[in-house]
Amino acid sequence: MMGQRFKEMNDKYGDVVYLYAFGQPMIIIGSHEAASELLDKRSANYSDRQPSAMRELAGWEWTFVLMPYGLPWRRRRKEMHQFFNPTAVSQYQPLQQREALNFLKKLLEKPDTFLYQVRHSFASTSMRISYGIEVVDEQDPYVAAVERGVASFNEAFVPGAFLVETFPVLKKLPDWFPGAGFKRTAAAWKKIAHNMRDAPFEKMMKSWMTGEAESSIATTLMQTALDKTDIDIAEQQMVARDVSAVVYAAGADTTMSTVQIFFMAMACYPEVQVKARAELDAVVGSDRLPTFEDHKSLPYITAIAKESMRWQSVVPLGIPHRSLEDDEFRGYFIPKGSAVIANLYAFSRDERVYPNPESFNPERFLKNGKINTEVRDPNTFVFGYGRRICPGRHFAEASLFIMIASVLHTLTIDQAVDQHGESIAPEAKMTYGVLSYPVPFPCSIKPRSADHAALIHTSLAHSD
Ligand code: HEM
Repeated sequence: MMGQRFKEMNDKYGDVVYLYAFGQPMIIIGSHEAASELLDKRSANYSDRQPSAMRELAGWEWTFVLMPYGLPWRRRRKEMHQFFNPTAVSQYQPLQQREALNFLKKLLEKPDTFLYQVRHSFASTSMRISYGIEVVDEQDPYVAAVERGVASFNEAFVPGAFLVETFPVLKKLPDWFPGAGFKRTAAAWKKIAHNMRDAPFEKMMKSWMTGEAESSIATTLMQTALDKTDIDIAEQQMVARDVSAVVYAAGADTTMSTVQIFFMAMACYPEVQVKARAELDAVVGSDRLPTFEDHKSLPYITAIAKESMRWQSVVPLGIPHRSLEDDEFRGYFIPKGSAVIANLYAFSRDERVYPNPESFNPERFLKNGKINTEVRDPNTFVFGYGRRICPGRHFAEASLFIMIASVLHTLTIDQAVDQHGESIAPEAKMTYGVLSYPVPFPCSIKPRSADHAALIHTSLAHSD
């Protein structure tokens, strides 16, 4: 795995490793301190992205995740900020709460499909927020369109392909690098990616024109276009389209993978669930589900969320930044155009900060029953750095908290049992990619008791 290989390099040669291959200077950063010094403190110089042929070929030119530092990126990022800054995200809490409840219902009904239900739950939330589209069933065409889209992104930017572009030296290594059929595949990907961006937006536009659209990110941004006389409406429409779509494109699999990691951890560490339940029973009680108001009173749940972020890396190498000008750092010369990689995987395994890093241990974040602010919060690095830091991070943290609290309050997660009655321990392995996911694993999910199942049903009845 690349994160591990880079980590070994950093362990041997220091926090900042400089590589030069085929005209592409590259810096591998091996510690959070160095990443912060360079990417946060000098963010004016380190916020560009690598040019990418794949971006255009595979139809992802509209996602600002990969856009170079410049006006089109800035404009989209600014628009996104108004919906996802720490104050703005609180408006989504009622929706997140309701979706968490629907999620519990699905887990009661079809526990074996839990990995899929995590995906569906986030799809449903973001369709509503982005477009005001209500997702009813599991075969929803817009959800299917985005699912295909994200899958094609993961294929197009499979670490090999992605890294080959960034670091041409790797071209020599593997033989999966796309060959002759590549252009045809890319054309198919492009269609899928554009359909994902356009289909829900067009649906929203139709109902918006007739005044029937539910308020959403897309309608708010379209309204801005109309309110301003001096603005180019077509341009603003494109921005509205791109920003609405990026919420799902960049947010879905990252959050989904983290929630799946949480399930994987719970199946491996039953004693963590016991402690979580004790906290939930004391703070929330048995008559209701946890809410966002409980957040501050649930340090152990908060610690589980942090440890789920740290224990396995969802974006192990972040997204490479690129420098705009020559620079010098700790005595090294960093030429302009360098790819700068923050090895987030290595930061999560920094033994000075997280002793015994392979073990899932929420206690590492606690002291005297409170969150210990002296231990580095993984949220300070898992979302990247500087002007490119993940704009969805407050929303992601909130999604994670409410899902974890709701699940632990009502359900028990155990290892699955095979036909001989033997427990199947999850391997706790991640796939390797720009985005990484738990290798699919089975687990058993049951209500904690008949009363807890009833609580889910009565909460559903009250939420209608
Ligand atoms: C656990 C969940 C998530 C993780 C671990 C995560 C992680 C990341 C990372 C590492 C980056 C690259 C930052 C950098 O270049 O330094 C990033 C960028 C980004 N993320 Fe997230 N993310 C998550 C959830 C979300 C959500 C929910 C959204 C949308 C609502 C989102 C939208 C974006 C966007 C648009 C960018 C590109 C920013 C830019 O290039 O300016 N992410 N994320």
